[in-house]
Order: sequence, then C-alpha cells, then structure tokens
Amino acid sequence: MAKTHSDPHVTDRLIGPFAQLVTLEGLPLKGSLSDKQLIVQQAAGIRVRGSEIIETGPFERLAKAARADKTEIAELPAGSVGIPGFVDAHTHSCFAGSRAKDYALRNSGSSYLEIAKAGGGIWDSVQQTRKASPEILEALLLKRIRRFLAAGITTLEVKSGYGLSVSEELKMLRVIRSASEKTDMDLVSTCLAAHTCPKDFQGNAQEYLQLLETELLPVLAAEGLTSRLDAFVEQSAFTPREILPYLRKGKAMGFHLTLHADQFTAGGSAVAISCGALSADHLEASGPSEIQALAKSEVIATALPGASLGLGCGFTPSRALLDAGACLAIASDYNPGSAPMGDLLTQAALLGTFEKLSNAEVLAGITFRAAAALALKDRGRLVAGHKADIAIFQTDHYNEILYHQGQLRPFQVVKNGRLYLSKNDSHDF
Ligand code: NIG
Ligand code: FE
Repeated sequence: MAKTHSDPHVTDRLIGPFAQLVTLEGLPLKGSLSDKQLIVQQAAGIRVRGSEIIETGPFERLAKAARADKTEIAELPAGSVGIPGFVDAHTHSCFAGSRAKDYALRNSGSSYLEIAKAGGGIWDSVQQTRKASPEILEALLLKRIRRFLAAGITTLEVKSGYGLSVSEELKMLRVIRSASEKTDMDLVSTCLAAHTCPKDFQGNAQEYLQLLETELLPVLAAEGLTSRLDAFVEQSAFTPREILPYLRKGKAMGFHLTLHADQFTAGGSAVAISCGALSADHLEASGPSEIQALAKSEVIATALPGASLGLGCGFTPSRALLDAGACLAIASDYNPGSAPMGDLLTQAALLGTFEKLSNAEVLAGITFRAAAALALKDRGRLVAGHKADIAIFQTDHYNEILYHQGQLRPFQVVKNGRLYLSKNDSHDF
C-alpha cells in the first residue's frame, strides 16, 4: 500500500472535500435505526491532527483556515463519500492451509459437525497451523491485513485457536503481536485456546480447560499478549457447564470475554450474559427467548453472515435482535473453515438484504457498534476525538455503497490520519 505522505513532522492535515460525510454521530448503541437518523454533512472536510480527528465541517471554511495557518490540504477528487473505517470485530485471520476439501464435502451433503467428528474441520486447520513456522504465519497474516486495509477495514480483531496447546497458542498470539508491530492496521488479539478440546490431549475437556487456566492464562497476562478470551460453546466444543469455570477464572483475572454462541444449538448466549461477556457472536440458532435476553443485557450481538454464506445456513436473526432492542454488530468471521470469503462489506450488505436492515443499521454494525464489541470508544464515528480512520468511496451518494453489495470498493482509505491508495492492491489470498 503506497503512503502518499511521508513527512512525519506534518501532523495537521485537512482532508476533503467530501460530497457527503456520513459521520454516524449521535446514533444510539442499541436498537433499530432508520436512515433518517443518519447525519450527512455535504461539501465537508475533516481536520486531523496526527491520528485524531479534531474537527469536521464545511470544507470551504476549514480550507480557508488551513490556508491561513499553512496546514496541509489532502485534496480529494469530486464525488468522494467518507464513512468511518470499518471495524471487523471477529476474525480467525491467523492460520495456515486451506479447507477447500471441507467446503466441497459440505456442498456434497456432509454437515460441518459431521466433518469435525471425522477429524476434519477445526482440527485440520490446527494440524496445518502447527506445522507453519512463526515467520510463515506472520507473512500470511500480513498479506491478509493488506487486503483488509484496502477494503476499508481499519481495525481488525484476530483470534488464536488453531494452536490448541499452551505452546502453539502462545506461538499464534506472539505472531499476531509481531504482525501488529509491522502494520498500520490496529490489531486486537483474542485468545481462543478454548476453540475445541484438542484430539491429542490426554484428558477430558475439563482437564484441558484447567490446563489453560494454570499454564496459559498467567503467561498471557504476564506478557500482555491479549486482554480477551473467547470460547466455542457448542456440542462439538464445550458445554455451558464445562466452560463456565474457565470463563469465571478469566474474568477474575481481568480478561474481557466474548463467545462463539448459539451457532448450531442455543445455550452459549445465556452463558455470555451470565458471565458479563462483551459480545455473543454467531447466534444463528437463537430463538425468541435468547433474543429477548440478549436485548435486555449489555452483551453485544455479533452477526457473522460470512459463516452463514460459507455453511449455507440461515442468517443471525438480526432484524429481530434490533427490534427487541439489542446492539447488533456485524463481523466477517474470516476463517479457513466456515467463512472463507473474508469480505466484510459484501457480507454486511447481503445480511442487510436478507434481514431487511436499514443502511444505518448495517453501517452502525460495522463501525461504532463493532468497536463497542471490542471495548473501543475512540473509533467508529467521524467526530472530534475519534481516530481519523476513514473509508472513502468514489460516488455521489452513500446509498451506493451497500447497493453495490461489496463491489464498490473504497478508492482511498485513511488510517491514523494518513491517506493510502488502495486501488493497486491485489486481492489474492
Ligand atoms: O466462527 N464456530 C467455530 N469457530 C469458527 C470456525 C472455525 C473453523 O471452522 O475453522 C467459526 O465459525
Ligand atoms: Fe468465529
């Protein structure tokens, strides 16, 4: 990705003019949203200092002030629409190998759970990821990060969970940390050592979780490798009864919690609520009582349409969740098994089409509501004090962005106040 500004001493910058700036300011964290609630500034500019927004407003006024105090102006071509950089709050982007075989098997009639039981699925990716050196894993992750940045994603959550031993989980989390030092993307790591009980572990699920408690969590805390724990609550992984002591221990140690919940069978979302998780993700199998309980709670409901598209199953009941008053985030779940596409904008647009979500609800779900799922309060809206992370589209109306269902890509991306050209980035996997 080519950086258009290299002078590190230039910290103030005016970016614009934007034909439309969709700031997402003032919108509530929870519940349904109508497009009429969107604040759209016309002929607008954004003044940034370093990586932070200090003001948005009419471009002409800001440009006059910028010329007077010799602030650099990063001029955009006519027909530029700016929205907050996207936050992809749930991905498994650190992995090696392909599961194209699983995909073919599923489409020929085998289920995800059947493939997992037969030794494919997550365990297959564990074998391939364990074999990869840290250098290879890091190179794969950095290549994917470049693709995500070019797609307008400026904050990316990345889970471990394909190591499934103390040393291999540490390897993954150290790779994620090392990659984060080499990219402008903000990476948020999550430990998913409780993805499933590894087939080579000499003991039962409870004993595996106890090992993680005593051998892994203290190292995570000591090295500051992550502040987040995730677990897969499902028949093929961990039952609510098995996982609760692990989650309580993690919480007591100060970790934020998030769960893979209600993907095939309900149960995980109640665990998420009872242990005060930041988010419950998946929820394809949530019914009316789970939806009501989530809406009453502070747990963010994260829809993962990429998993529905990858597995060919129903979408998270997003309309019902919003109508009940829940906070709905949307993430890609990018992983080699259930969600190999890894295209947040396309998936969010399709979720909107199938679940009848307003554009405001979709955009909120991939910006400030997704940021909240990561406990990040400084991004996701284009307002003073927030990070200057902006996805810029060459179009005259923001409605065009979701209308093209992911085919209209950002033509420029601003990350930490700096302009990147994205159009020459390749999209290879
Ligand atoms: O979010 N559901 C469990 N975990 C991942 C899939 C991981 C895999 O299949 O490799 C998910 O869908
Ligand atoms: Fe996932």
